[in-house]
Amino acid sequence: MRETAPPDDLPQVLLEWYDQHARQMPWRVGPAARRSGLCPDPYRVWMSEIMLQQTTVATVRDYFQRFVARWPTVADLAAAEDAEVMGEWAGLGYYARARNLLKCARAVVADHDGRFPADHAALLKLPGIGPYTAAAVSSIAFDLPFTVLDGNVERVMARLYDIHTPLPAAKPELMAKAQALTPQERPGDYAQAVMDLGATICSPKSPACGICPWRDPCAARLAGTQAFLPKKTPKKAKPVRHGTVYLAQREDGAWLLETRPDKGLLGGMLGWPGSDWIDTAQERPDGLPPVAGDWSVLPGEVRHTFTHFHLILTVKIAMVAQQTQPTTGDFMPRDAFRPSDLPTVMRKAFDLSQV
Ligand code: ADE
Repeated sequence: MRETAPPDDLPQVLLEWYDQHARQMPWRVGPAARRSGLCPDPYRVWMSEIMLQQTTVATVRDYFQRFVARWPTVADLAAAEDAEVMGEWAGLGYYARARNLLKCARAVVADHDGRFPADHAALLKLPGIGPYTAAAVSSIAFDLPFTVLDGNVERVMARLYDIHTPLPAAKPELMAKAQALTPQERPGDYAQAVMDLGATICSPKSPACGICPWRDPCAARLAGTQAFLPKKTPKKAKPVRHGTVYLAQREDGAWLLETRPDKGLLGGMLGWPGSDWIDTAQERPDGLPPVAGDWSVLPGEVRHTFTHFHLILTVKIAMVAQQTQPTTGDFMPRDAFRPSDLPTVMRKAFDLSQV
């Protein structure tokens, strides 16, 4: 680590950079507008921060626009049907976020008169709001001096202070550095500025140090270690699970779908009935077909990666009689079925049936 402390005008230097280079985002109030008195809508800030966890800004933009067009206020979202919200979220992944989104909207309406509390401790008590989101909403929406530590900020701090402890063990050290820098003035703009710096200049590969507002105080740049930071403890290889899904289409074109139980993977999402997903190389799990039919195996298979495992699905398809009674799920009329309402892994199974 560097011998001398970095200069104490670091936040100010970064804010000046942000005034010139802030990215435009549909949920963001830029620095000029903010200075003229415009405040961001906490509902939009909260929704964007939930969506941005585990997901890129590029992917989130369209989802965000669709959500706020359909549910412009937290009260509108709270009044929505669960299935509508889950369908609109389909494809974004990490579906617990969507279930909590609804729970949180309903709690804000029930317990806070439909207004997000401008209070970090109260925010932390809401469903789906953990330390990251509470800090992000407190700082960005309410301009309170809380420190936001996401992957971008971790990388910036590891480089600025040339910290070689690998992640995730380095988190407390990186948080302490980030907290020490968080200013009392314009903390909301500052939080977004560090994230923007990490996303645009202090990028994981080939950081653009030449144009970085913090190039002079950056200890990693001085040591030439920036490309190797932050260090990461290698992750364990993911196991491979196997399963089978059943795509049953009735004579009138309706598809047999089930809503998955709220708890567990893809909880609350629409999906094809199927077997359990099992960690085995030998016997591939078949499960039982949800209706009697002349089932055939589609050529190819579905491959999808979740946080903790890779999944390989066999896809079986059958045309079934109009009067048939399934053991699980309901037939969804052809014109009500939107493949985009399916989570990605189930959408892949449908796509395989359409080639
Ligand atoms: N990543 C997550 N939240 C962000 C924000 N508010 N600004 C920029 N990048 C982000």
